[in-house]
Amino acid sequence: MNQSALPKKVRIVEVGPRDGLQNEQQTIPTAVKIKLIELLTDAGLNSIEAGSFVNPKWVPQMADSDAVFQGISRVANTTYAALTPNMQGYERAIAAGADEVAIFAAASEAFSQKNINCSITESLQRFPPILDAAQQANIPVRGYISCVLGCPYEGAVSPIVVADIAEQLFSMGCYEISLGDTIGVGTPGQVSEMLALCTQRLPVEKLAVHFHDTYGQALANIYAALLHGVSVVDSSIAGLGGCPYAKGASGNVATEDVLYMLDGLQIHSGVNLDKLLTAGRYISDFLQRSSGSKVANARSQ
Ligand code: HMG
Ligand code: MG
Repeated sequence: MNQSALPKKVRIVEVGPRDGLQNEQQTIPTAVKIKLIELLTDAGLNSIEAGSFVNPKWVPQMADSDAVFQGISRVANTTYAALTPNMQGYERAIAAGADEVAIFAAASEAFSQKNINCSITESLQRFPPILDAAQQANIPVRGYISCVLGCPYEGAVSPIVVADIAEQLFSMGCYEISLGDTIGVGTPGQVSEMLALCTQRLPVEKLAVHFHDTYGQALANIYAALLHGVSVVDSSIAGLGGCPYAKGASGNVATEDVLYMLDGLQIHSGVNLDKLLTAGRYISDFLQRSSGSKVANARSQ
């Protein structure tokens, strides 16, 4: 694999306002969420996952997602997406003004049960009505697969299962499949093996990577994915995040760190690092916590 295989452009999908904040214990005021999203778009991010419409008893932090969607000052050519587990979530997301929705399945049975209270097969049966409704309303649907490189309950996960589910989500009509290392355990060799299998089933342009950084492997894993031709990367401002149903999982890879690497590789993303650092400082100050981004910490000294 040589460097010329790297993409010239990468789309960063900022998941901080959803994946980043969903795991926070303290209630974050709606106004803070809105301000964070506005700082992120000001930095040039134009794909933002702004909230989720799941059962608020399961994830109370996201209970105000409708107010978040309704409160943001929208920037042209920017997509404000919402995570939706079922038809009820889809309808709430559309009523709130989401431009795009994301459905989510898992590559591990145990995680599927803990996270969405049903089996993988049941979850895949739940999605077609969402895709039908979205297609009629011209709403793009993204598909996530969790636990692609390991499961907190089952351990190893087969990359063949990942490729199977990716193909099914793609044939159902998801325009893009985001492959999630929910607990951040994977290493670059595993990423290459998984992508080699997935790209036998669907075009690489349809794949995104979504890496949590628990074991510090996320940037190396992203680099491995870029060498495979993946050009969509999910990340979270200040490295916030985790999944309430994946114990011990730390934050997503920090958007600041991804951008620093992309800039160094001269891969265009359209995002401004200084402005991104401002957004990261804003939320880290609010949470009264040092940033999970190495770049942010280096720049604050
Ligand atoms: P359930 O309890 O099986 O749902 O939960 P149900 O259909 O039996 O309904 C039970 C109650 O939930 C009912 O209310 C429904 O109205 C309500 P009640 O009659 O008891 O008052 N309900 C809802 N309320 C609001 N919005 C909805 C909704 N659906 C049902 N959409 C369900 C099933 C999927 C809803 C639940 O398990 C759930 O909300 N799970 C979400 C968990 C979650 O948000 N996890 C984190 C996001 S995934 C993630 O972080 C991974 C990712 O980042 C990728 C990666 O890193 O790998 C994407
Ligand atoms: Mg995640």
